[in-house]
Amino acid sequence: MNARKRQNEFRIDRLNEEKRLPHEEWTALLSAWDDSDRAYAAEIARALANVRFGHGIFVRGIVEFSNVCRNDCLYCGIRKSNRNLERYRLSEAEILDCCDAGYEYGFRTFVLQSGEDASYPPERLAALVRTLKANHPDCAVTLSVGELERADYQMLFEAGADRYLLRHETADPEHYARLHMPGQSWERRMRCLRDLKEIGFQTGCGFMVGSPYQTPETLAKDMEFITEFRPAMIGIGPFIPHCDTPFANEPAGSVELTLFLLSLCRILIPDVLLPATTALGTLDPTGREKGVLAGANVIMPNLSPMQVRAKYMLYNNKTAVDVDTHITRSDLQERLRKIGYTVKVARGDYGETSC
Ligand code: 5AD
Repeated sequence: MNARKRQNEFRIDRLNEEKRLPHEEWTALLSAWDDSDRAYAAEIARALANVRFGHGIFVRGIVEFSNVCRNDCLYCGIRKSNRNLERYRLSEAEILDCCDAGYEYGFRTFVLQSGEDASYPPERLAALVRTLKANHPDCAVTLSVGELERADYQMLFEAGADRYLLRHETADPEHYARLHMPGQSWERRMRCLRDLKEIGFQTGCGFMVGSPYQTPETLAKDMEFITEFRPAMIGIGPFIPHCDTPFANEPAGSVELTLFLLSLCRILIPDVLLPATTALGTLDPTGREKGVLAGANVIMPNLSPMQVRAKYMLYNNKTAVDVDTHITRSDLQERLRKIGYTVKVARGDYGETSC
């Protein structure tokens, strides 16, 4: 065994024991690692997940209800400046129909996601959440609708929303500035995350792997932020360029690094709800299975109506458009069965280890 490998295994063991690493250790680990380090981390991560969740995977049905967005994130296909995109917005009735269909498939969490669309103001969303919770009192509702005022988050929580996903995108303010337009503020994003957590949401942060200008140094800051913030959920997927964005010619992120980071997140916060993301499944047809084997315990199939899926194009070739057409519950069950896992019919809340 060479010295670097020994050092990395030592770092991974130390992370497992202490549930944190010093900054230089994170940077060193993320600067030079190989497949055997990744396999080492995956084995520990998978064991930690299995102790808590057994071989059951939580599924969340995601409804992408509007692709209208006031923001202009440089990486994102639904950015305001993209004129080549037909915009859509589902009505409440359409959203509720998607959730009813999802309930029949066995989903017990619905994720409502959209761009930052002023035509779905917090009051309107709160009314929608109340109706959805009244229709399906045994289900959890996750919102992912971007940055709002604290009072609005509070209103949505009181309306019954259980969880909120807001990726921090990068824990380095200078990196953040290079991924976004001047009006978007890293400080405000962090404020939103803290508000969400204080209000009582099971809160999810996260980032893209291989976004332009990302370095081992910025990734180390992401891992340190996660250590300190202690999210209930972490969304990590590879960056995938979109042809109608300023990052059209940037390379995609690495599947292997994404898998390594998933394992490191599982080791860092063993209870965390960790999805094998759509972006991972887009870059690699078996990416989601690989994500599960790296320690992920959540999969979020798309429940959006077929005719709008192609328009919620955050990045090119988003798999949801075709592959997810077939991800009915039974297909997903079959895919998971092949790797020794099953779909769990449960809300799957953070901190409730139900195995
Ligand atoms: N590649 C991968 N992920 C992306 N997202 C947005 N654009 C891209 C892209 N080009 C992610 C962001 C955002 C989430 C909804 O989707 O991290 O928070």
